[in-house]
Formats: sequence, structure tokens, C-alpha cells
Amino acid sequence: MKSISNYIPLVSVFLAVLFTLMFLYLYYFPPGSDIGPEQPIPFSHRVHTGVKNIQCEFCHPYVAQSSFPGMPPVEKCLYCHNYIIANHPWIQKEHEYYDTNTPIPWQKVNYLPEHAFFNHERHIKKDIECQACHGAVENMDRLKAEPFRMEFCIGCHREMNANLDCWLACHN
Ligand code: HEC
Ligand code: HEC
Ligand code: HEC
Ligand code: HEC
Repeated sequence: MKSISNYIPLVSVFLAVLFTLMFLYLYYFPPGSDIGPEQPIPFSHRVHTGVKNIQCEFCHPYVAQSSFPGMPPVEKCLYCHNYIIANHPWIQKEHEYYDTNTPIPWQKVNYLPEHAFFNHERHIKKDIECQACHGAVENMDRLKAEPFRMEFCIGCHREMNANLDCWLACHN
């Protein structure tokens, strides 16, 4: 019969490995990281684009012409919400922003690595759908960031015979 103490080294190695794995998991996938940042008003793409079928370009009108797709000013929200659920507390908050002339401080969701160059224009003109890069936005209440890795960009460029010379084209 072996005594319990013979197992102690084995058990400690096991525990050490377990804790390291747990630490790494929490480090790379902290709880809550699968949803995007909280927004000042819980605007839902699912409700507006999925259920109510409002076109993306209505709120992001410059996506095909400019390097900035555009964010809807609060006037655009009130264009509907002066009539639709006008007394809802979140709509009252829209009025506060409007009355005090404060742009709604939307939190930016997507980031590219600093050295990568991206412009929507060329992609939209090739009829690439928003969803190819942003996922099924019309099913999302709160948007989360897409992991735009280089293989993601390169993979599609290879498939569509676009510029692969990415060190010249995508990096500045
Ligand atoms: C009624 C207005 C409205 C419509 C329609 C709309 N959006 Fe938005 N969009 C917003 C607002 C407001 C934000 C900022 C808050 C947020 O991130 O949810 C936003 C943010 C985004 C972002 C995140 C930007 C970032 O910070 O990285 C993406 C991507 C996006 N929209 C894509 C789409 C797509 C694709 C469609 C069409 C399927 C669409 N939007 C339709 C209002 C709208
Ligand atoms: C073209 C019309 C239209 C525009 C523009 C619009 N909305 Fe809405 N919104 C709606 C409709 C329709 C509903 C659903 C109302 C209901 O549930 O009866 C809605 C619902 C909401 C709700 C209720 C919560 C929810 O998710 O159900 C919030 C908050 C909201 N909108 C915020 C905004 C903000 C912020 C903007 C501007 C970025 C905006 N809306 C622009 C039509 C619009
Ligand atoms: C080929 C991939 C691709 C397609 C297609 C695409 N996007 Fe994007 N989008 C991106 C990337 C990458 C970013 C992050 C860019 C950055 O931070 O500089 C982004 C950012 C955004 C933002 C936030 C901009 C900002 O500066 O905060 C909005 C809004 C947006 N996209 C809307 C749309 C809409 C609407 C469509 C469809 C009409 C669309 N996108 C199609 C890749 C794409
Ligand atoms: C779904 C397919 C797809 C994805 C994903 C995609 N691209 Fe593209 N991209 C294209 C196509 C197609 C073109 C060529 C457009 C044309 O011919 O005008 C292009 C063109 C470009 C150009 C212009 C290249 C030139 O010839 O000057 C740049 C820069 C670029 N993409 C960067 C990116 C980056 C950065 C990403 C990742 C965040 C990305 N693309 C993701 C399809 C894609």
C-alpha cells in the first residue's frame, strides 16, 4: 500500500497545470468579451435592421464614398422617435442629448491593427455585403467586435483575385 503522500507531487503538478490553463483561458477569453461594449443607449440592430428592415445606408450613408461610414446624428433617431414610442425612457434620453446639443457618445466597436489600411469604398463598389465582414448584424442587439485578422483579409483577396500585395496595399 502506498501512502497518500506519494501522490502529493503528482497532484500538485496536476493542480499547477489546471490553474495555468484556467489563467490562460480567463486571460484570453475574459467573461463578457463575447459581447460588445455597452452603449449609452441600448440601440438594437436586430430591432431596426432585422425586424423593421431599415437599410444600413439610411444610418451609415457614406459607407460607399468615404473612409468613414457615418454614424446617425440624434436628429435622425428623432425623425422616427418623435412619433414611435416617444415616451420610452431611452427616447427621453435621446431628447436630452438633442436639447443639450451633445452628440450621442457611441462607443467604437471594431478596431483594426494600427498599421492596417482599410477603406470601405472599394469593397462596397464590388457588391460585397456588409455581413461578409460584420456578421449577421440584423440578428444582434448589441454589436460585438469582429476579429479582423490578416488571414481574414488575405483569404478573401485571394479568392476574389484582389490585391495580395498587402504590404503595399494594406499597410501604410
Ligand atoms: C437606425 C439606424 C441604424 C441602421 C439602420 C443601421 N445602423 Fe449600424 N449603427 C447604428 C448606431 C447608432 C451605431 C452605434 C451603436 C452601436 O454600435 O450599436 C451603429 C454601429 C454599427 C457598427 C459598429 C461600428 C463600430 O463602432 O465599429 C457596424 C459594423 C454597423 N453599425 C453596421 C450596420 C449594418 C451592416 C447595418 C445594416 C444591416 C446597419 N449598421 C444599420 C445605427 C444604425
Ligand atoms: C426609420 C425609423 C427609426 C429610426 C430612424 C430609429 N428608430 Fe429606433 N425604433 C424604431 C421602431 C419601429 C422601433 C420599435 C418600436 C416598438 O417596439 O414598437 C424602435 C425601437 C427603438 C428602441 C426601443 C428598444 C428596443 O430595442 O426595442 C430604442 C431604444 C431605439 N429604437 C433607439 C433608436 C436610436 C438611438 C436611433 C438612432 C440611432 C433610432 N432608434 C432610430 C424606428 C426607428
Ligand atoms: C470587406 C470587409 C467589410 C465590409 C464588406 C463592410 N465593412 Fe464595415 N468595417 C470593416 C472594418 C475592417 C472596419 C473597422 C475599420 C476601422 O476601424 O478603421 C469597419 C467599420 C465599420 C463601421 C465603424 C466605422 C468607425 O470608424 O467607427 C461601420 C459603421 C461599418 N463598418 C458599417 C458597414 C456597413 C453599413 C457595411 C455595408 C454597407 C460595411 N460596413 C461593410 C470591414 C467591412
Ligand atoms: C469578402 C472579401 C474581402 C474581404 C473580407 C476583404 N477584402 Fe479588401 N478587397 C476585396 C476586393 C474584391 C477588392 C478589390 C476591389 C476592386 O477591385 O476595386 C479589395 C480591395 C482592397 C484594397 C485596395 C487594394 C488595391 O488594389 O489598392 C485594400 C487596401 C483592402 N481591400 C484591404 C482590406 C483589409 C485591410 C481587409 C480586412 C480587414 C479586407 N480588405 C478584407 C475583397 C475583400
